[in-house]
Amino acid sequence: MTLPSSPPALHFEGVSKTYPGQPAPALSDLTLTVARGSRTGIIGRSGAGKSTLVRLISGLETPDAGRLLVQGQDVTRLGRAEQRQRQARTGLVFQHFNLLAQRTVLGNVTLPLELAGQPRAQREQRALELLEQVGLADFARRYPAQLSGGQKQRVGIARALVTGPDLLLADEATSALDPETSAGILDLLTRLQRERDLTLLIVTHQLEVVRAATTHVAVLDRGRLVEQGPTRHLLAQPQHEVTRALLDAHRPEVTLGAGEVLRHVNLDDLGAQTLAALARLGARLVQAEAHPQGVDAWLVVREDAGDLSALRPSAEVWTPAPVSA
Ligand SMILES: Nc1ncnc2c1ncn2[C@@H]1O[C@H](COP(=O)(O)OP(=O)(O)OP(=O)(O)O)[C@@H](O)[C@H]1O
Ligand SMILES: [Mg+2]
Repeated sequence: MTLPSSPPALHFEGVSKTYPGQPAPALSDLTLTVARGSRTGIIGRSGAGKSTLVRLISGLETPDAGRLLVQGQDVTRLGRAEQRQRQARTGLVFQHFNLLAQRTVLGNVTLPLELAGQPRAQREQRALELLEQVGLADFARRYPAQLSGGQKQRVGIARALVTGPDLLLADEATSALDPETSAGILDLLTRLQRERDLTLLIVTHQLEVVRAATTHVAVLDRGRLVEQGPTRHLLAQPQHEVTRALLDAHRPEVTLGAGEVLRHVNLDDLGAQTLAALARLGARLVQAEAHPQGVDAWLVVREDAGDLSALRPSAEVWTPAPVSA
């Protein structure tokens, strides 16, 4: 007997969207599948269409053309009641938290349940469980103004999850936070995604976010999907100039000698074996950054150093374009 295969979390099929009065489409003939249980990053420059994609999923906008299937259901054809049901199964986390200043932390987290008509005792119990999970059990009676940015975002995450969604959309959720706080929020999102078996969609313009928290990436440029794939593969061998430009921003400042080139490699680790292999190649390690996908390393090697894939059987290497003088 074969089990029916479960549909992907999201499937965009030729989706286009132009805002009224705008000359160019915000999204253009977008076809993209997001696997259930993945942590998918959506990256691209400002105005690429990332937030529009999120607004289509959350039902705040409707496509002009094409189909959008959420868990196999064509959401362009839902009635009002079904739309509301679907929205309860989609959690949203915003860049500026969007908390209500006159409500306590608890009051902010219970709000979606209040709107759904759940009795007070029940919704408060549920909200307290969520606050516990985001590490804010002791903050329930505070007001947003009495919280740090990171704490506000934790409240935002608790609120997004209080209705028990299976899909969590985070639009620039860490862009307003300092790097350390941002890393804490990404850890929390990753942990919750695993524990609750969520599909997590992370919209960002920061490469660090993609590295730290995603399994897959889709790159948008001017409303079009220009590249997609597993994060590790895509960051090691970016094909499109938008992706390359994002990675290039992390290129270390080095002075190259005659016949030397700068190359980017994704390594498994920086263990003794790897270091020995680097030495054999005569490679100078000029920058290394560990992340859940491995180690992003920038090497200076001789142009004729040969095959860097010896560094690791599956090593993926990218030689950036030469720096123009
Ligand atoms: N409500 C709106 N009305 C008219 N045009 C809009 C509206 N929202 C977005 N746009 C336009 O649609 C395009 C895509 O915008 P979108 O907000 O999706 O980009 P983005 O990738 O999220 O950018 P950013 O990184 O700056 O947040 C832009 O050209 C933008 O000006
Ligand atoms: Mg945006």
